[in-house]
This record gives sequence, structure tokens and C-alpha cells, in this order.
Amino acid sequence: MTRKPDLPPPPYHGLDPERSFDRLTEPVGTSRFAQAAARAAHGRTDLAKRGYAPDGTKRLRRFSTWEICRYMIPVAPAHFRRVLKSNPDLPQGEGSGGTRWFTLDEIVALRDHFDSEGSKAKQYKPWRPDGVQAKVVAVANFKGGVGKTSTAAHLAMAAALDGYRVLVIDLDSQGSMTSILGGDVPDEWSTVFPLLAKDYASHVSQRNHVREAEGLAPLPLDETMTAALDVTAKDVVQTTHWPNIDLIGAQLNLYWAEFQIPVWRMTARDWPLWDALPNFLEAEGLLDAYDIVLLDTPPALGYLTINALSAADILLVPLGASFLEFDSTGRFFDMLHATFASIEEGDNAVRRTAGLPEQRFEWDAVRTVLTRYDAGQQADLANVVQAYFGDMMAPHRQEFTALVGQAGERVSGIYEADPRDFNRDTYLRGREAFDRTYADFKDLLLGCWWRDEMERNGGGE
Ligand SMILES: Nc1ncnc2c1ncn2[C@@H]1O[C@H](COP(=O)(O)OP(=O)(O)O)[C@@H](O)[C@H]1O
Ligand SMILES: [Mg+2]
Repeated sequence: MTRKPDLPPPPYHGLDPERSFDRLTEPVGTSRFAQAAARAAHGRTDLAKRGYAPDGTKRLRRFSTWEICRYMIPVAPAHFRRVLKSNPDLPQGEGSGGTRWFTLDEIVALRDHFDSEGSKAKQYKPWRPDGVQAKVVAVANFKGGVGKTSTAAHLAMAAALDGYRVLVIDLDSQGSMTSILGGDVPDEWSTVFPLLAKDYASHVSQRNHVREAEGLAPLPLDETMTAALDVTAKDVVQTTHWPNIDLIGAQLNLYWAEFQIPVWRMTARDWPLWDALPNFLEAEGLLDAYDIVLLDTPPALGYLTINALSAADILLVPLGASFLEFDSTGRFFDMLHATFASIEEGDNAVRRTAGLPEQRFEWDAVRTVLTRYDAGQQADLANVVQAYFGDMMAPHRQEFTALVGQAGERVSGIYEADPRDFNRDTYLRGREAFDRTYADFKDLLLGCWWRDEMERNGGGE
């Protein structure tokens, strides 16, 4: 007869308080946090040296002839090779034989060549009507870990590969997006903070002109704030290892904005803080310089997120197919409604008194995006979520793919990963998950621009 070995008791039974006490360290004071932070900073440097962390000098890999012809420039590889051969001035790539490897800069040049010399029946550059502005896209949800940053980063890269010029703005003081793009952000003056300060300062100085005429004391504006009046895009926008993705980065100090903004609001109650970011994008010509402005937001409905939502034409709300994420996304919409309805109300009360027409916030499109989807486990819940959100839900469910996590430290996400590092089917499936997320987004983008054009040409239908 064999006896099964007895299972040990669960690990939380039989704990002895006195021994627990022996294992316990001293109570923790504030300075211990500083120590932990210093150690982590040390560890970070150490890991960065060993190649684990983005070091601010990320390099984008090269792309193969196969990738270019399949994903970026719609020509057959044989034709592609013929064109290179007969145009020795064009970038010829690295490597020999059938497969050559090109930098994204070179691909941009090649695409320009095909666009001007190639078949007019084909579209080599992605569509954007002349004279319309960039679309601003915010990726937001007040729940953390739902895939905001991954979705935003993959959309930025997919759009860049597709030929659009992208400005990414990181509004999360955790700076994940900034790390993904290898951004260098020494302090809050390289984040959106100074452009919020600028908006506030110019509001105050305008008010002070009026107050002076009325014989009132000016509102205070210290030296730093006066200096903020001179901030331009050049001070905050940085290039990245992606030739057609630029960045306004974030770092921990940006969190300070959440405390500073309400203080400013106390001084100048009529400062429309939610207009700060949209004002800057417009005034600095950024909506003409780029095709897409992508905003990654923190997991909170704070002032930075409100600015992002107010700047946005297109709002994407990622969520996973779980009860908790669905529930909290519902609450997020509830908060959005409450927040923006109250801004509209306050704003319109002022406008009515001034005899101006009322104004309402309006977004070109809002879509929930299902992320990290596991068809084997989550189909039922996803169907329910889809039924409730209806046409507010993007059609494609972005599958869970190990490639996102795995690509991890040195490269970020599927578009930076080298296909040769993965099993072919795994790569194709992972890539398709994000290509289809991008396709859903591009569908919205093109539709919105089309509608703008129709309206501009004086059209309804
Ligand atoms: N499609 C996906 N497949 C697998 N993992 C994913 C996917 N999307 C996001 N993740 C992972 O989920 C976690 C949270 O994603 P993240 O984009 O950082 O969320 P948020 O910005 O909302 O906090 C990360 O570890 C990320 O790698
Ligand atoms: Mg994030």
C-alpha cells in the first residue's frame, strides 16, 4: 500500500508572534524612503550598464527588404530591387544578395522616391488632406495597467512606419512612454509643465493689463513664471531614435503640476486650465508640423488628463475583458461626463453674461479598445463588454501577446523587435494584434479627416 505524503499546513498557519517580532525591522521613517530611492537609483545605473535599461541612446534597428515590401512600401520585392539597381543614388541598404537592411530614415527617402516616380495608381504615402491639422489622440483610462502606454507606443510606431509624422506627449510622471522612446528629461522644465505655466502666465499678464486700467493691484507673477512666457516648442520637444517620432517627455517632477495647477486656479479663478495644452499645440504650429499628436496619460483623472482630453480629437480608452476593468471604465466615463459637463456649465454661464454663444466640448470619435485579450478565457466577457459599449467599442480585440512583455528591456514592443528573434508564427500573430489595433485607429483618423474636408468644402452630404 502506498501512502500519499501528508500535505504541509498552509504557510500562514502556526506563525509565532515572538518570532515574527524577531524578523521585524525598526518602524520606518520618511528618510528610509530616501534611502530606498537612492539604492534603487544605484541599481538602475547598474542595470543600465549591463544593458537592461534604456540608456537614452536607443537605436532603432534596420528593416529588411521583406518587411519593407510587406508592411511599408506596397511593391513586389523584385520590382523594389530593380528600382534600387537602376537608381544608384537611392539608399542601397546593408547586406548582400536578395535581402538588404535599411534604416527608417532610408525607408522614408525610398518612400518619397516611389511616391514621386512610382505608379500613380498606388498610394505610397498615407493619406492626409492638404491644409487640415494633425489629429490629437488621447489614450486614457483612470485604471492603471489596462494597456494605455503599450497601445499608445504601438500606435505611434505603427503610424511612423506607415509614413506619418508623430509627436508623442507623455503626461504620466512615471515616464514609461519616455523610457520607451529613450527620452532625456532632466527635470520638469523638459516636460509639459512649462507650457502649462506659460498658459497661466499669459492669462495673468493679460488680466493685469485690464486690472491696471481699472486701478486694481496686479495679480502676482514671479520671475520663474515670467520666464515661462518665453517657452517655445523647441524647449520641450526632443527627437527620438525614431526619425519621425518626436517627444515631449515626462519624469517624476511632472507630478508637481497636479499640486501647482490648483494653486494657480486660486489666484486666477477664471483661468481655463483645460485649454493650456491645446493652446500650446495650436500656437506653436505643432498641429501643422505633425500628422498625429499622441497623448499618453496617467492612471488618474487629474489636471493633466483633463488637459489631454480637452486637447483630444480622438479618445481611445483601453480596457481588458475583466469585470473590474469593465466596471472601472464605466466609472471613468461617469467621471468624464461630470467633469466636462461642469466645465461647460461654468464656461457657458460666463459666456452668457458676456453675450457670447454657448460652447460645448466635442470629440471626433471615442472608442474603447479591448487589450490583452485571451480568446480562450475571455470570449464571454468580451462579448458582454462589446454589447454594452456598442459602437463606442473598436471592432478589433487586441490579443494578449508574450512579445510585448518579452521584447522588454532593450527594445520596446513588437515594432522594434527583430522578427528573426522569434518563431515566425508567434511574430506574425503578435504583429497582427497591433497592426489591427492600428488599422482600427487609422480608420477613425481617415474618417475624421474626410469629414473635416467635407465640412471645409461647404458640404453636408
Ligand atoms: N496586447 C498585450 N499583450 C500582452 N501584454 C500586454 C499587452 N498590452 C499591454 N500589456 C502589458 O500589460 C502591462 C500594462 O500595460 P501598460 O501599457 O503599461 O498599461 P497602462 O499604461 O494602462 O498602465 C504591461 O506589462 C504591458 O507589457
Ligand atoms: Mg501607462
